[in-house]
Amino acid sequence: MTARVALITGGARGLGLSIAQVLAERGYKLLLVDRDEAVYATATGLGGDSGGVTGCVADLTVSDDVERLVEFVRGSFDGLDVLVNNAGITRDARLGKMEPEVFSSVIDVNLLAPLRLTFALDSSFRDGSSIVNMTSRAALGNFGQTNYVASKSGLIGFTRGLALQWSPRTRVNAVAPGLVDSAMSRAMPEDVLGGLVAKIPAGRIGEPEDVARAVAFLAGDESSYITGQVLTVCGGRSISA
Ligand SMILES: NC(=O)c1ccc[n+]([C@@H]2O[C@H](COP(=O)([O-])OP(=O)(O)OC[C@H]3O[C@@H](n4cnc5c(N)ncnc54)[C@H](O)[C@@H]3O)[C@@H](O)[C@H]2O)c1
Repeated sequence: MTARVALITGGARGLGLSIAQVLAERGYKLLLVDRDEAVYATATGLGGDSGGVTGCVADLTVSDDVERLVEFVRGSFDGLDVLVNNAGITRDARLGKMEPEVFSSVIDVNLLAPLRLTFALDSSFRDGSSIVNMTSRAALGNFGQTNYVASKSGLIGFTRGLALQWSPRTRVNAVAPGLVDSAMSRAMPEDVLGGLVAKIPAGRIGEPEDVARAVAFLAGDESSYITGQVLTVCGGRSISA
């Protein structure tokens, strides 16, 4: 059987790296895309070209980079089975102190870049393909993150709208992680982090693998009757007081 092909954005580190590890274990060929050149070392660490893992540098907010990436996909693979729109940023501030440029930079990376890349890849998606958009539990609202909340709730709207438009060829779903052990959470003061973890019914912070396994489920055939949905991966935090 030919290996399924998955493109993961923001694949150099963090959740993107963890998603790459889980999909590689499941036999996917991977194209890891990131604006950080560290993506080459990440791809090599996962087996490199001989292991079916290719790294590619592209800033997904730059249209020339997106065009080059799409050409590369067309020239290198027969088609695409999975797209994980995972790259994302935060630039937090209270709205009154947030420059419009800071607001729009987050919308650009987290919402407009997935939209542009997804539509540019339209003709590459195979029948039975799957898109997984990385949103966040913060889409429900988070203090000091109007830009991030707007981008991540917008991505949920994009997920639902596109799921209707591209069915049945391509399923489109989203994963919404809660608090995950990451560079961001490790930078928090210990007492603040401890207070947040205490509110998680599962009794622990999420691990990147918890999120990666949810992405792999939505990417693969086990979820073939699921489209236009958001899978929240937060240890039950979204249902606790
Ligand atoms: N870590 C968490 O706790 C958490 C929780 C909920 C949602 N998320 C979401 O998960 C995703 C990954 O988060 P993470 O914690 O791994 O972040 P991260 O900062 O560790 O990794 C994000 C990657 O995206 C890349 N990137 C950023 N802008 C880009 C651009 N314009 N073009 C190409 N690549 C770009 C970065 O270089 C980086 O390698 C993000 O969308 C984030 O919003 C994270």
